[in-house]
Amino acid sequence: MVTILDGKNLKEKISNDLKQKLEKFQIKPTLVVILVGENPASKIYVNNKKKTAENLGINSQVINYPSDVTEEELLKKIDELNNDKSVTAILVQLPLPEHISKENIMNAICPRKDVDGFTPYNFGKLFSGETPTVYPCTPKGILLLLDEYGIELEGQHAVIVGRSNIVGRPLSQMLLDRNATVTVCHSKTKNLTEITKTADILISAVGKNIIEGKMLKSGCVVVDVGIFKDENGKTRGDVDFESVSQIASYLSPVPGGVGPMTITSLMLNTVELFEKFS
Ligand code: GUN
Repeated sequence: MVTILDGKNLKEKISNDLKQKLEKFQIKPTLVVILVGENPASKIYVNNKKKTAENLGINSQVINYPSDVTEEELLKKIDELNNDKSVTAILVQLPLPEHISKENIMNAICPRKDVDGFTPYNFGKLFSGETPTVYPCTPKGILLLLDEYGIELEGQHAVIVGRSNIVGRPLSQMLLDRNATVTVCHSKTKNLTEITKTADILISAVGKNIIEGKMLKSGCVVVDVGIFKDENGKTRGDVDFESVSQIASYLSPVPGGVGPMTITSLMLNTVELFEKFS
C-alpha cells in the first residue's frame, strides 16, 4: 500500500507553529515579491505567496511590472529594496522575460535578503558544501516532507529528473549533503528507465507527465514536483499516479504534495532571514 506524502497537512502543522512564533515578534518580517509580466502560473504563485504570508502575520508586498520593463529599472528597484531597512526578504519571481538577464537580477539581490537562496553568493555556498543564508524553497520543502515521514536518505540512491536551478541542481547538492548517492537525469539522458529502475528515491521536476510505474523499482519513494494543466485543464504532475501508486511505497500527490511545501519553505526562509539579520 502506498503512503501519500501529504504536503498540505505538513504545511498546516508548520504554519501553526510559525504563526505562534510570529505573534511574539514586535516588528514583523517584510517580504517583497517582484512579478514581471502576465505569466498566469506566476500570478497564481505570487498571489498564494502573498496570501500565505499575510495569514501568518508576515508583511508582504507585490510589485508588478509590465513585461517590457527594462533591466535597468528592475535593478534600480532592487537596489532601493536592498537599502530599505523595513524590507527583510526579496523574491523576484521566475521566469523573467528574455530581454532581462536573470544572472544580473539575481546578482543584484543582497544575499541577506535573498529569500530564495538563488544569488550567486548563496548558490556558491551551497555548491561548495558550505551553509547558505537560506536553502532554495522547493528542495527545502521536499526534504522537510521526506523527513516528516522518516524516510532515510543516507546511502540511498536518489535519482532526480530535471536539472533546473530552481529544483534539480540545488536539490542534488542538498541530498549529497545528507549522504545520498545522487544521479541527475535530464532531457538528453539516454535510457532513462535503466536509471530510474535503480532509484530508491525518485524526484521528478520536469513539467511533463513522464514517470510511469513500469519505470520504477518496487517500494521506491516518489516525489512529484511537476505541476501543469493538461489539455482538459486538469492539474497534473510528472507522475502517472495510478500506475506509480501500485509500485511505490511513498508518493507525493499533485496538487497537495510539494506545492504547499514550497510556500511553507518560503515562509520559513522569510522568518529565518529576519531572525538572522534584522
Ligand atoms: N518560479 C518557480 N518557482 C520559483 C521559486 O521557487 N522562486 C522564484 N523566485 N521563482 C520561481
